[in-house]
Amino acid sequence: MVFRKKHLLGLEELSAEEITTILDAAAGMKEIFSRPVKKVPALRGKTVCNLFFENSTRTRTSFELAAKNLSADVVNFNVATSSVVKGESLLDTARTIQSMAVDIVVIRHSCPGTPLLLSKRLNMSVVNAGDGAHAHPTQGLLDLFTMREHFGSIKDLRVAIVGDILHSRVARSNIFGLRKLGAHVTLVGPSTLVPREFKEMGCEIEYDLKRGISNANVINLLRIQLERQKKNLFPSIREYRLLYGLQEDRLSWASPDVLVMHPGPVNRGVEISQEIADGPHSVINEQVTNGIAVRMAVLYLVSGGGAGSGVQVGG
Ligand code: CP
Repeated sequence: MVFRKKHLLGLEELSAEEITTILDAAAGMKEIFSRPVKKVPALRGKTVCNLFFENSTRTRTSFELAAKNLSADVVNFNVATSSVVKGESLLDTARTIQSMAVDIVVIRHSCPGTPLLLSKRLNMSVVNAGDGAHAHPTQGLLDLFTMREHFGSIKDLRVAIVGDILHSRVARSNIFGLRKLGAHVTLVGPSTLVPREFKEMGCEIEYDLKRGISNANVINLLRIQLERQKKNLFPSIREYRLLYGLQEDRLSWASPDVLVMHPGPVNRGVEISQEIADGPHSVINEQVTNGIAVRMAVLYLVSGGGAGSGVQVGG
């Protein structure tokens, strides 16, 4: 299938076929960056700007590596030392970047809808690297990619997403992607963090960890956002760990070949034990590696690389 989208704003906006096209392209990209010389000229002459208004380790670094693997030039915009601190608006900042002949802007912002706004006002391609609690599409895609690598297909997988669903852009992007590709999704956590409205997205809801991860093929643990504790959404970290923390003796509730996933950053000893995070079921580091392949595919496809001829990357 040909990919015709100029922007990547969220997985809600993509069809199952478009998601599959990105995952197929990412498989080719993973082969490229596993080579000793992990560079192809696919985006030579293009410029990618990482415009991050929120902190990031994984997403920003892997977008930079992905762009460099495709031979693009990369600019990392540093908000703290920019004219944003003098009061320059988001749109003026973005227009300024566009005027420097940037082709793709990768944006992370705390305000939901910021990537959509930029996509309407600018000519550059816009890639959402996380907007508030709304969407984190490349995280969703790299999670799907990792599941597909292990199980061959997403269809009919039983996936439990555990933790702070309410505030999680990762959960939303996973839910849209998983449901479109035919997985069964169960959301697990305290009722304050797992509202019943999520049933409308085609998910099951469980407040009991044992029932929630029973026979799961995949357990995707979300970071407990410690800053939320002040809002009385759960009584204490200790109680959260007792009720929802994934510890060795609880893994037997899931399928014997269960994959344990986490988007990072990880709170070891809270949502996941040290032993499981570093154990044989954990694919946390694979997720990070796959993130580069998925972001290479996204940058390539939004820049028109797949149009007309399917996905073919030279080199
Ligand atoms: N998973 C994720 O978005 O991590 P970063 O915040 O480090 O980019």
